[in-house]
Amino acid sequence: MNNLKYSLLVISFLLIPGSLCQNDEYATCSASFQCAGIRNITYPFWGGSRPGFCGYPGFQLNNCQGDVPILTISSVQYRVLEIDNTTQTIRVARGDLWNLTCPRFLYNTILEPNLFTFSPNYPNITLYYGCNSPSIPQLPGMFYCNVNQTTDSLSFFTIQALPSVPGTGISCDNTISVPVNQTAAGYLALPTASTTHLQEALASGFSLQWSANNRVCENCIQSGGLCGTNRNSPSFACYCADRTHALTCNDTSSQTGTGT
Ligand SMILES: *[C@@H]1O[C@H](CO)[C@@H](O)[C@H](O)[C@H]1NC(C)=O
Ligand SMILES: *[C@@H]1O[C@H](CO)[C@@H](O)[C@H](O)[C@H]1NC(C)=O
Ligand SMILES: *[C@@H]1O[C@H](CO)[C@@H](O)[C@H](O)[C@H]1NC(C)=O
Ligand SMILES: *[C@@H]1O[C@H](CO)[C@@H](O)[C@H](O)[C@H]1NC(C)=O
Ligand SMILES: *[C@@H]1O[C@H](CO)[C@@H](O)[C@H](O)[C@H]1NC(C)=O
Ligand SMILES: *[C@@H]1O[C@H](CO)[C@@H](O)[C@H](O)[C@H]1NC(C)=O
Ligand SMILES: *[C@@H]1O[C@H](CO)[C@@H](O)[C@H](O)[C@H]1NC(C)=O
Repeated sequence: MNNLKYSLLVISFLLIPGSLCQNDEYATCSASFQCAGIRNITYPFWGGSRPGFCGYPGFQLNNCQGDVPILTISSVQYRVLEIDNTTQTIRVARGDLWNLTCPRFLYNTILEPNLFTFSPNYPNITLYYGCNSPSIPQLPGMFYCNVNQTTDSLSFFTIQALPSVPGTGISCDNTISVPVNQTAAGYLALPTASTTHLQEALASGFSLQWSANNRVCENCIQSGGLCGTNRNSPSFACYCADRTHALTCNDTSSQTGTGT
């Protein structure tokens, strides 16, 4: 009996200080995060098993049990192919275009400018849909699309501006721009360009740079912390082993929220 009491006493001494001092957010956010095929994902991304306070709003990954993570930017779904947290870049492919060139709905590639910018060296390709032409133009990369339940209409892609030579008379209902890598752009500019090349280029994706308190986060990590977003407000939080700080583990300001 005495032994049992002693054991309980020892156990409670071992457990209670730990549970009082441990920062829950720090413990939760230090767990490695895997989404679909991508491992070791950290701030600003969250989703799947990783709660929002470990990431930044607008960086939620979905489809973590599927083939690739899906990130939604301005209501368009992107397949996340690569995440590089040292350069704050992701390589993504348009989810609606990655395996077909005639999507049901046409959306442009529009970013949320506070969160993402296009990386340099990814020229745009322009896809024209629903075109009318007095004569069948001699363009590489022509294809036919049944867009929006209408009859098949002429569509094509080009990395140059629409050939606006007076007299071609081509007019199109819709255009969308999508960045492709430079090698792909080179192939797509050749007279031999085909929709197979187009599909490969779209599936290979393009690169975006993210901004999510990048500098602040770097300082937090250097001080031994983990980056996140406050549970109760959309402000930055630096989760440290002792408690949650505003900016770095060394700062003395206290942080509102649940972590103490
Ligand atoms: C990048 O991810 C690794 C884990 O894969 C993590 O240890 C590191 O702190 C992250 N760096 C930044 C700047 O987020
Ligand atoms: C993930 O991180 C672990 C340990 O931090 C490392 O051993 C492993 O190679 C990393 N995996 C990838 C795919 O980067
Ligand atoms: C494209 O991929 C989606 C999702 O993986 C799939 O449902 C669809 O059938 C594919 N379409 C074609 C034309 O392969
Ligand atoms: C591609 O198009 C987008 C939007 O249409 C534009 O913001 C971006 O600057 C263009 N990229 C290049 C390399 O011209
Ligand atoms: C598709 O059809 C809907 C309904 O007729 C119309 O509102 C929409 O503008 C069309 N979209 C395109 C891209 O043509
Ligand atoms: C560029 O895209 C092509 C597909 O068109 C792909 O095979 C190639 O690996 C990509 N290159 C780079 C550097 O991403
Ligand atoms: C923060 O504190 C740690 C440990 O006390 C120290 O090693 C580090 O240099 C400090 N960093 C800054 C930016 O003051």
